[in-house]
Amino acid sequence: MTILITGGAGFIGANFVLEWVKATGEPVVNLDALTYAGNRASLQSLEGSNLHHFVHGEIGDAALVGELLATHKVRAVINFAAESHVDRSIKGPTRFFETNVMGTLGLLEAVRAYWGGLGGAVKDAFRFLHVSTDEVYGTLAPDEPAFSETTPYRPNSPYAASKASSDHIVRSYHETYGLPVLLTNCSNNYGPLQFPEKLIPLVIHNALAGKDLPIYGDGLQVRDWLYVGDHCTAIRQVLETAAPGASYNIGGDNQMTNLAVVRHICALLDARRPKADGSRYADQMKHVTDRPGHDRRYAIDARKIAHDLGWQPSVRFEDGIRQTVDWYLANAGWVENVTSGAYRDWVARQYT
Ligand code: NAD
Ligand code: DAU
Repeated sequence: MTILITGGAGFIGANFVLEWVKATGEPVVNLDALTYAGNRASLQSLEGSNLHHFVHGEIGDAALVGELLATHKVRAVINFAAESHVDRSIKGPTRFFETNVMGTLGLLEAVRAYWGGLGGAVKDAFRFLHVSTDEVYGTLAPDEPAFSETTPYRPNSPYAASKASSDHIVRSYHETYGLPVLLTNCSNNYGPLQFPEKLIPLVIHNALAGKDLPIYGDGLQVRDWLYVGDHCTAIRQVLETAAPGASYNIGGDNQMTNLAVVRHICALLDARRPKADGSRYADQMKHVTDRPGHDRRYAIDARKIAHDLGWQPSVRFEDGIRQTVDWYLANAGWVENVTSGAYRDWVARQYT
């Protein structure tokens, strides 16, 4: 049997592929367009492995996807591929709708045609799992209850709106065509292999480079941080055991303000890589203009996945963030490799 992963050269996808191959020994076809966020270097340890077949291409290319599904007799598809950075969606929304909405539609059309041609037990066992986000639910006031699977969608950024649209399309393919879909909505991930445009790797990268650590607005926005390995485990459990049509929220039960996260990273760096002049990394923190439409608070109610599938986060933030900081300190080459000219152009446009 084989599974098709899309976006497996990105942050969560690459962590998932590495973990999947190690844990299951089942072959993976990895379809990725290698945008700025996709890096073959993340999958270097699988070079030459007959369990990992990398294909450079777009999820919206239904002909390519159809060929891959048939050639490799795929039993399940997990769709990680997306444009994923909120700030980029604010600067230029079009690509988000092309990939996250039309791309997902093209992928689903290819999957529907392939699945329609299967028979018997193979057809019954087939699954399409769409990886989505808690941002589709919008923002919470400090005292509001956490997002559950029945919270109405109220996306605020172009990124969130594009993901919400894709979730609705996926759901409609189950209701209309009976396609055995699964949907997961997860909170903020952190861990190794995350592109240094997102808060945690950006802060580590800038701190070590002696640059400002940009805090949007007052820095009191709240996110629910989950270690990427726990997200990957949850996805595997949903794929293996959830009923077709089900959706699950996934979170770390770990709400923190951005200020608290950044200060925590600074303290870890002070201990691990003290600055020569004796100053503190936190001195580099700088409040900058807030993100337009900035969601104030996310929080996930993950009781459904705990109850139905027995999944719970296993990595405490203190441990996960220490491992993450250590990974970035030990993998300066990976960071150097991904922070190319295009990355520097983005940083210049976003932060000056
Ligand atoms: P990422 O930006 O790091 O990686 C996205 C990957 O998709 C890259 O490898 C990129 O090359 C690929 N890709 C982009 N457009 C493509 C296309 N048209 N065809 C094929 N491949 C394409 O993203 P990530 O942080 O790993 O997120 C993965 C998924 O998880 C996304 O769907 C995102 O919405 C969702 N998600 C992310 C988080 C988070 O905290 N990062 C949390 C919840 C959900
Ligand atoms: O909640 C899940 C989502 O988490 C995913 O769907 C997205 O793909 C992922 O990018 C992430 O979105 P956020 O916008 O929450 O993540 P980001 O790392 O961009 O920002 C985290 C918080 O930190 C947010 O409140 C904005 C703030 N921030 C971010 C950056 C990059 C800063 O204060 N300064 C910064 O430079």
